[in-house]
Amino acid sequence: MTNSVSLIFNQSNHLSGEIDIPGDKSITHRAIILGSLSNGKVNISNALLSEDCKRTLNAFRMLGVRILLNDQIISIYGNGLDSLSKPSTQIDAGNSGTLARLISGILAVQNFDSSITGDESLLQRPMRRIIDPLSDIGALINSNSGRLPLAFAKSTINPIEYNLSIPSAQIKSCLILASLFIDGESTISENIKTRDHTERMLQYLDYPIAICDKSISLSGGGTISAKDITIPSDISSASFFIVGSLIKPKSNVILKSIGVNSLRTGIIEILIKMGADIKLSNLRNIGNEPVADIIIKHSKLKPINLSGDIISRLIDELPILFIACACCNGTSVINDIEELRHKESDRIKSMEEGLMNLGIDVETSINSIKIKGGDFTGGIVNSYGDHRIAMSFLIAGLVSRKPITVIDTENINTSFPDFIDILKCQNNEIYSI
Ligand code: S3P
Repeated sequence: MTNSVSLIFNQSNHLSGEIDIPGDKSITHRAIILGSLSNGKVNISNALLSEDCKRTLNAFRMLGVRILLNDQIISIYGNGLDSLSKPSTQIDAGNSGTLARLISGILAVQNFDSSITGDESLLQRPMRRIIDPLSDIGALINSNSGRLPLAFAKSTINPIEYNLSIPSAQIKSCLILASLFIDGESTISENIKTRDHTERMLQYLDYPIAICDKSISLSGGGTISAKDITIPSDISSASFFIVGSLIKPKSNVILKSIGVNSLRTGIIEILIKMGADIKLSNLRNIGNEPVADIIIKHSKLKPINLSGDIISRLIDELPILFIACACCNGTSVINDIEELRHKESDRIKSMEEGLMNLGIDVETSINSIKIKGGDFTGGIVNSYGDHRIAMSFLIAGLVSRKPITVIDTENINTSFPDFIDILKCQNNEIYSI
């Protein structure tokens, strides 16, 4: 047991009507970062104002950027690529792997020394994946055996020529951001495509970037135009209410202006294959990102077998997909998911333990999970401080015969501060102990 907040999901109700989903976390981080490097004032609306994104906002304030927050609008006064200044203390990325990895690409190539750390969970997460390619181009980085804290010393940097062996948008974006500061052309390529929000936002802000299938080239020293940015609502946060609506009888929900970038919509495609009644309407573009309204109705789901390239297109939605699999009649098998072991917790282990505690049969290997659909009996699960594990098991509370207690839930605030209030507004009884 920990002394952190535990939530008990007691009485559940079906989900209905319009549910407001907050701004996309990945895109908010990038908007704060690129706004800070732009050549003027950028207003960001529908930004996610969660703990993780506030860490990014503070980090760029520490680097000398003027950033104001008024009426939910973030106003950033960019002064161009050369404007960052040495922070007076160590930057703290908190729980945010995205901030730690993306900002490292920038800090490693500045004309000043700096360092970055994070919370207990982030201190355990692998950083070699960015240290190695940055060191290859001449960056001087000291780490704690490949983990945070990282210390960056100024050095001479060469252009990047790098092929990603791990499918990771964080590594790719770290290197793209570094390239903005490097003389000459850098090229970054990937074998499996990952979310391309950094590339899309640079295009939107008029920065010259050549994208050819899985290869990206850009040269440093250009200008990022200051333009206002509206953030699409987060498909990863939406997924909790999508699966909740599918598994809870009588549910019928609409989620508006959700980002439906095809590198993020793996969850929708797979749920539809499982028999979900999900419809997209009002498809449009905002700030070079596709968005749509999504209508979801309760559906009987079939089990699924998954592996290969699709995994990177639903990587953050796997915990909630496992809950959907647990509600099917039959056994689902999901392979090629070893990356889940390196998230905010070891998500294969956290989900296996939690599902078993709630009466679901699960088998795992180093990179796979097999889930036999059944009834959630209720019980106690530990989220290990992982926001997506906590939210996944609270959604399971919608269909559980007895209450589900989820331990260590305060990190829900890192990505979806209103999550519990939304469930309560839908007449679900949740209380904290
Ligand atoms: C993210 C990329 C993914 C994802 C994370 C956010 C991003 O991580 O899991 O939540 O914003 O670039 P990896 O790049 O490590 O797969």
